[in-house]
Amino acid sequence: MKTKILKINPRKPRRDVILIAAEVIRRGGTVAFPTETVYGLGADALNPDAVKKIFEAKSRPADNPMIVHVASRGQAARLWETVSEMAALLMDAFWPGPLTLVSKKAEAVPEITVAGMDTVGVRMPDHRVALALIEEAGVPVAAPSANLAGKPSPTLAEHVAQDLSGKIDIILDGGPTRIGLESTVLDLTTSPPTILRPGGVTVEKLKTVLRDVQIHPAAVAEKKIVTVLARSPGMKHRHYAPAADMIVVEGEPDKVVEKVRELGERNANRGKRVAIMTTREHASMYKHEVEVLGSVRDLTTISRNLFKALRELDEKGVDVIIVEAVDAKGLGLAIMNRLRKASDFKIVKA
Ligand code: TXA
Ligand code: MG
Repeated sequence: MKTKILKINPRKPRRDVILIAAEVIRRGGTVAFPTETVYGLGADALNPDAVKKIFEAKSRPADNPMIVHVASRGQAARLWETVSEMAALLMDAFWPGPLTLVSKKAEAVPEITVAGMDTVGVRMPDHRVALALIEEAGVPVAAPSANLAGKPSPTLAEHVAQDLSGKIDIILDGGPTRIGLESTVLDLTTSPPTILRPGGVTVEKLKTVLRDVQIHPAAVAEKKIVTVLARSPGMKHRHYAPAADMIVVEGEPDKVVEKVRELGERNANRGKRVAIMTTREHASMYKHEVEVLGSVRDLTTISRNLFKALRELDEKGVDVIIVEAVDAKGLGLAIMNRLRKASDFKIVKA
């Protein structure tokens, strides 16, 4: 299959380009498109043959359900059995935006789309290209992140092409994504609701609308979760993984620097090529190769750069990536979730 790459203006998407992509979705094909979080690989969520193509292109485990993307609240309401009062409040507050709401699914949602679960996660992306595509297609669009299963999510069209070229119909290239980490996944079937994956909408923000919210232990990701505990099947699969070995160092800032230096030395002495992922403030403290994610005071920039940095270090052929942890508050919880999982839980306490 030849994959067509079409440039598109993220602020003013051209209608003729949207029409081409929407037609592919309607006919059961696959289109990668930008959202405010990461690029998604989309297909008609109500067409089992189309959804099957997503699983195949990504080599996605068959037990991992899709997030379904909508362009209106009416479209969301048709995917769920009922729209709870809580769901309505959350949609008011955070849609369009990086919040996926999980609730009992309607009959119309095919089994393959939700990997056999009786719930469906739905979100309305805050991106003009994504919204125009879904609206023009006229169907809800199933879209996991547009990477090969296990790899870091794509924040550029080039990342999608690296992973999926020749396996999908179209890539809409709308430039870099704004947030860089995937949406928050919130399970509304529990009381209080449970964060299954931390993301762009933080716990602190959710608490402005919800009286209470719990965080699933696997979402904190301090250690590997055993299968039976995993309520979101995605939790138990390896994620975001660079080819290099990765070690996350957590603790008091001074001690972290000391520990990172020590681990850097030790690995370099073994003939490994070492890179240190760090902040602008700490970059000059290391003599090894550094990859600066942003200022320690600006978690938004760190989020935006994280997955790109992981892919770049792999391309350079780095053997060991040593990462400084950030404070797990606000967006920091989502960042730490991704770092801990990417390292396959190789976490060192300084
Ligand atoms: O920001 C995002 O959410 C991106 C963009 C493209 O919208 N999408 C994304 O999809 O990250 P994906 O498939 O890579 O991650 C979806 C996560 C998986 O961990 C999956 O297990 C979980 O959400 N999930 C989806 N539906 C679920 C459900 N019904 N119940 C529990 N977890 C669910
Ligand atoms: Mg993914």
